[in-house]
Parts: sequence; C-alpha cells; structure tokens
Amino acid sequence: MEHSFWHSKWQKNEIGFHEPEGNALLVKHAHVLLSGGEQSSHPIRIFVPLCGKTRDIAWLLSQGVEVVGAELSEVAITQLFEELGAAPTVAETEHGKVYAKDGLTVFVGDIFKLSAKDVGNISGVYDRAALVALPSQLRAQYASHLMEITHKAPQLIISFEYNQDELAGPPFSVNEHTVASLYADSYVINRLERSVLEGGLKGKVDAENLVFELVAK
Ligand SMILES: C[S@@+](CC[C@H](N)C(=O)[O-])C[C@H]1O[C@@H](n2cnc3c(N)ncnc32)[C@H](O)[C@@H]1O
Repeated sequence: MEHSFWHSKWQKNEIGFHEPEGNALLVKHAHVLLSGGEQSSHPIRIFVPLCGKTRDIAWLLSQGVEVVGAELSEVAITQLFEELGAAPTVAETEHGKVYAKDGLTVFVGDIFKLSAKDVGNISGVYDRAALVALPSQLRAQYASHLMEITHKAPQLIISFEYNQDELAGPPFSVNEHTVASLYADSYVINRLERSVLEGGLKGKVDAENLVFELVAK
C-alpha cells in the first residue's frame, strides 16, 4: 500500500484493525517473547513493527520489558501515548521523529528507513497485523529488512488465513506456506495455533487466526 493509504486511514479514524482490549493471543503465547531474559545480561527489548496504537504495547510494558515501535502515522503515535497516559519526549532524527517515554521508544516514519543501530539490541519481534498489512510484493523486502535490523531475533507472528478471492486486503491472507517462503531459510517455524476468528474477518468472510513462533536456525 502507498503511505498515503495509511495516513488517510488514520486521518479518517478508519482503524478497524485496532483492538481496544489488546490481543488475547499475545497474552496466551507471550512466553515466546518473554522467556530467556533471566539468563541474559541485556533487558528484554521487544520490537513491534507497524505498531499503530496497539494496546499490546501497554501489556508488554506491564510485563517489565522495553518496547520499540515503528509506525508511519504520527496521528497513531500521538494517540498511543495519550492512551498510555504518558507524555513523551519527541526528538527529530534523520529518519523522522522519535517518541520516547520510560521503556518505550517509537520511530515515526517508514520502517524501511530504520537500521539495526536505531532499534538497538532487540530480543524479540511481535508482528501482529504487520506482515498481513503488506501486499505480497513488499513482504520479502519487509522480512529481510526485519531480520537485518533485529539480527534475526525470535518472532511471534499473529496472522490470518482466509480465501483471498472473497475479500481484498489489507489485511491480506498470510498462511503457513507464505510464512515458510519468507522465513524458513533463517528460522525454525513452529505453528502454535490455528483457531477460528470469531465473527469472521470484517464480519464478512470466514477466517482463521494463525500464530507462529520463529526461532533463528
Ligand atoms: C493493520 S495496521 C496494524 C497496527 C498494529 N500492529 C495493530 O495490531 O493494531 C498496520 C499499520 O502499519 C502502518 N504502516 C504501514 N506501512 C508502514 C511502513 N512502511 N512503515 C511503518 N509503518 C507502516 C500503518 O500506518 C498502520 O498503522
């Protein structure tokens, strides 16, 4: 999608993808991201690509971890901090604005402009509605960029599978085959869950939630 597509969605508040209560599948499978920190001298630091204003950031912060987000829309990030009740510092960088407060840092701008140095020492990636937000021609570029800037940190991916002929994306249908085609060379992929998406996708088509754990080979 063009950047203007997403900016327009946020301007018009057409954000059906946003979950006011956060995502229950994150809470269920968070051990993928949160375990292992005890043995490490580094803090757990979770990267949330294409983060929007997800409430999952509040939940991750409540677990005592650091969170780094990347999001195109400043509207989203202003609302994210308002809803967290946190007044951020805002710094201008060569890649755009960086909002920060306590354990949370969010880069406002195109994720493809970020480097490994920008995001710091990432211990896990939480991808909910990020991979599925991207059209197929961008997914390989996204996957390799994500692996590069996080040094192949483990990932928790929450995606949808449905009949793409029945609905135009986004979100696009991203199934096991797609995840394997993007990541199988670099990661062992474990499917943690396949479950019915209650109410269907946008209330229109039957869909399933798919949850994957990716661990670097
Ligand atoms: C489907 S929404 C998902 C948001 C969030 N992950 C959630 O679960 O609510 C996709 C988000 O990606 C953002 N986005 C799209 N392309 C982007 C890019 N190239 N760089 C950074 N953010 C982008 C959009 O503005 C939008 O907020």
